[in-house]
Amino acid sequence: MKVFHNKSELSQLIDDFKTKNMLIGFVPTMGALHEGHLSLVEKALSENHVAVVSVFVNPTQFDNQEDLVKYPRTLETDIELLKTVSDDKIVVYAPAVEDVYGDDVKSQSFKFDGLENEMEGAFREGHFNGVGTIVKRLFEIVTPNRAYFGEKDFQQLQIIKKLVELHHIPVKVIGCPIHRAEDGLAMSSRNTRLTENHRKVAPFIYETLKSAKTKFGTKSAKNVTEWVEKQFKKQPLLELEYFIIADTDTLKPVKRKSTKKTYRAFVAVYAGDIRLIDNIALN
Ligand code: PAF
Repeated sequence: MKVFHNKSELSQLIDDFKTKNMLIGFVPTMGALHEGHLSLVEKALSENHVAVVSVFVNPTQFDNQEDLVKYPRTLETDIELLKTVSDDKIVVYAPAVEDVYGDDVKSQSFKFDGLENEMEGAFREGHFNGVGTIVKRLFEIVTPNRAYFGEKDFQQLQIIKKLVELHHIPVKVIGCPIHRAEDGLAMSSRNTRLTENHRKVAPFIYETLKSAKTKFGTKSAKNVTEWVEKQFKKQPLLELEYFIIADTDTLKPVKRKSTKKTYRAFVAVYAGDIRLIDNIALN
């Protein structure tokens, strides 16, 4: 498997792919790969000739320095996992911070038609400027035909679609379903940092989302939200940061339900000092 730490070397290979009219599928990651990432890579390979996987813990999207420092970095294991998918059709780009940012580790400031102000944007200051900055830069380096993102970070997915639209970036952004452990916990690189007790209770998050979905069939968003907040109060190991039912397109919290719209429920929860997010389509 080809692993590049340097964007100019990667660019030479990309140029070579382009002269051969090969389609490039791109899976940006922050490493600590799990089955969810591998499913994105498999999808990329099923729709393109090659998959480029970036492994880069992007400093500008962390609002919490401790989280950045403790974020798992497991490049060797990541490469071994990717080899189980394909050894010759995957290219890894694992740069150092300087290769991406030079000596100016700063994010650009973006507007995404208001999508950036909701949920994660409200609770994690500067997060989506960091995501926008790195994804735009990676798109410029990799110049993929298609790029694959998991729906676990649904707001991020919508924002990246908006980034591509507003900045006329020639890439098709493809959202892929959330990958879950057998007990329902949404797969996340952060799950490896959960204590045994927190890991045991964490499936409560998806259980509650599923019940919220059922309740939303007959009850108002306000009623469902109050019910969810009550459930989390009974669960001492999990601290609810937010539960929001929002319009799928605008991500604005729903005030009055309309049959013409689709909705999604979003949740952010602390399990000890690990922050977990999840979401579910409601209709
Ligand atoms: O979802 C992630 O892992 C990151 O936000 C991304 C898209 C790789 C950008 O750093």
